[in-house]
This record gives sequence, structure tokens and C-alpha cells, in this order.
Amino acid sequence: MTDAPAPYEGPRRILSGMQPTGQLHLGNYLGALKNWVALQDGEAECFYCAVDMHAMTVPYEPAALAKAVRGVTAAYLAAGVDPARSAIFAQSAVPAHAELAWILQCVARLGWLERMTQFKDKAGKDAERASVGLFTYPVLMAADILVYKATEVPVGEDQKQHLELARDVAARFNRDFAGGRTVLPMPDPVILGTGARIMSLKDGTSKMSKSDPSDNSRINLHDDADTIARKIKKAKTDPEPLPETVEGLEARPEARNLVGIFAALTGRTSADVLAEYGGQGFGAFKPVLADAAVQFIAPISEEFGRLMADPAEIDRVLTKGAERANAAAAPVLAEVRDLVGYWRA
Ligand code: TYM
Repeated sequence: MTDAPAPYEGPRRILSGMQPTGQLHLGNYLGALKNWVALQDGEAECFYCAVDMHAMTVPYEPAALAKAVRGVTAAYLAAGVDPARSAIFAQSAVPAHAELAWILQCVARLGWLERMTQFKDKAGKDAERASVGLFTYPVLMAADILVYKATEVPVGEDQKQHLELARDVAARFNRDFAGGRTVLPMPDPVILGTGARIMSLKDGTSKMSKSDPSDNSRINLHDDADTIARKIKKAKTDPEPLPETVEGLEARPEARNLVGIFAALTGRTSADVLAEYGGQGFGAFKPVLADAAVQFIAPISEEFGRLMADPAEIDRVLTKGAERANAAAAPVLAEVRDLVGYWRA
């Protein structure tokens, strides 16, 4: 006899989110957002949120949060997420996320959360002082996904462990509350080959990140052409010319990153890029890379600027998106409430 979970019969649904902390960068785009846009063309319903409740798990400025949500929303729209096809909303505008998160906190086990590397990284040495919310962050993330019975979650590679936790939570819920029926589907991460892990321009061994204190470490989606060219010119490299093959990138994190970025921007593989540029120095490669990045980001940056000057338009998108998301989450939450035995007249 096997314990294989019962197959899920419901429709495919896509959900993902980004934290409204700092400006979105090329890593967010190439790792996730690009795929969000592509997935809209399929038949699955798409839900894309600004996860403002997750942004509260570390010290933050309350007066700046709503504006940051508008900023992330503007970046989604500028990158091509279409509000007519996808629900775009603020996580906090759909209270079902928080309510399901509580239920799932009683499903997830302490040991599962203690294994989360992102908590260890973010809490640092003084974990005792971290908020409880930072510790239970992955459970809220599981709720974000499961409250829509989402089946696919387009993310960068760094979210893989959180997705595994969401799967564990779904399986445990189904076992404990639904007699093994697949009420909550096991969400699959959708991770792109190239672009899934874009590294810092200043250190090829650490991730490109909104929270890096150095702005030169990342290319922001709102950077202008001169800024992009300057950042790429200053990007850390090694003295060797580019290798002819991908194996030659192995001990060269900075070279690998720049080749990977170029490949992701131009829709090619790293092998293909090296077949063309192998043997050339960075003096020749960097301007080509800068051109590709500028060509790519300029229209996004321009549209982002236009939208940020029109907060009323962004608010209309968020209001409509929250209506759709609330309507989709309500029946799932009602089903879960019944299964966990809540009172109902
Ligand atoms: P966040 O806000 O850190 O990042 C948003 C998305 O961008 C991807 N990403 C990257 N991809 C490639 N290279 C990089 N350097 C890079 N940096 C970031 C992330 O993998 C992510 O897909 N916990 C999530 C937010 C979240 C969420 C969710 C995601 C909350 N609830 C539900 C999916 C589903 C986070 O902190 O992402």
C-alpha cells in the first residue's frame, strides 16, 4: 500500500508575490516577474500580490508602506502584468491570507520552521530579537498560496525551500483534517533555468538583493540608461577573458553572473553566449551587456515613472484586484473553516 496523495482535480491556478521593500531589481524581473507575464498567456487564473504583511516582519517605516505597495504594483504593470487578465492586489487587502495563516500555524511544526535558511540569514546572530512574524513568515507564505488553491508558483531559486514548506503544510492539512483528500493542492514551484539566481554586481557569490546597502550591487528596474551603463562598467570581474565553454565559468562567479544576465536578457543560453563572446575580455563584453540591459529596462523604467505619477490609476488596479482575490479566497477559507471545526450557526 502506498501513501501517495490523492490527485488534485481542481483547476490550475498561479500565485506569486514580492515584498514591497526597496526597489525591484533585475533579479526580481529575470527570476520571477518575467515568468509571471508569460504565464498570463496560459489558461490558468493568475494572482499576483504585493506582500506587505511579509514586509512587517522586519523593522519598517509604517508611513512608507502603502507607497511601497504602489511602487511594486507599478513595477508589475510596467513589466507587463495585465490587470485585465491577472488579479493584482495588496496581501493585506485580502484578510483571508491572515486567517488561513493562523490555521496553518497550528498545522506546521516548529522543527520545520527551524530548518528555514532564510530565517537564519535574516535573523542573524541575535535570533532572540527577531520578530515572531519573521519566524512564521513561511507559514504566511504558504497561506498566500493555499488560500487560492494555487497549483503553480513562479519564483526565483531562493524561494524553493519556502515552497517545500508550503507543500508539507498542505499535505499535513489534508491528512489531519480531510482524511487524506487533496483539499489543498501541493503547489509546484515554477523556476526558470536562466535568471533564477542573479547575483550581486559587486560579489558573484551573493544574491542580487533589494536590501544590499550598495546600490551599485544591483540594476533597478527604474534605473536610467547612464546609471545602468555605469553600474555594469564598475561590476566586479576577473582579469581573464571569457571562456569558450560553460565549464570554464565554474570557478569564476562574477563572469558566470554577467554571462547569465546577458543570456537571460537576450533569451539565449550561456553556452550560446560563450560561443559568440568566448575569448573576449570584459572591456569588450561589458558594453554589449550594458546595451542589452538598457534596451530591456528603458521601456519598463519609463512606464514605471509614468505610473508612479498617477497613483489613482494604481489604486484602481489594486482595488479591482483585491475584489477578485477576496472572491476567489472566500470559498476556500469557508471550506477550511468547516474542516477545522469552527462554529457556524
Ligand atoms: P522577494 O520579495 O524577496 O523576491 C521576489 C521574487 O524575486 C525573486 N528574486 C530573485 N530571482 C533571481 N535572482 C535574484 N537575485 C532574486 N532576488 C529575488 C524571488 O525568488 C521572488 O520570486 N517570500 C517571497 C515573497 C512571497 C511569495 C509569497 C512568493 C510572499 N508570499 C507567495 C511566492 C508566493 C520573497 O521574499 O520574495
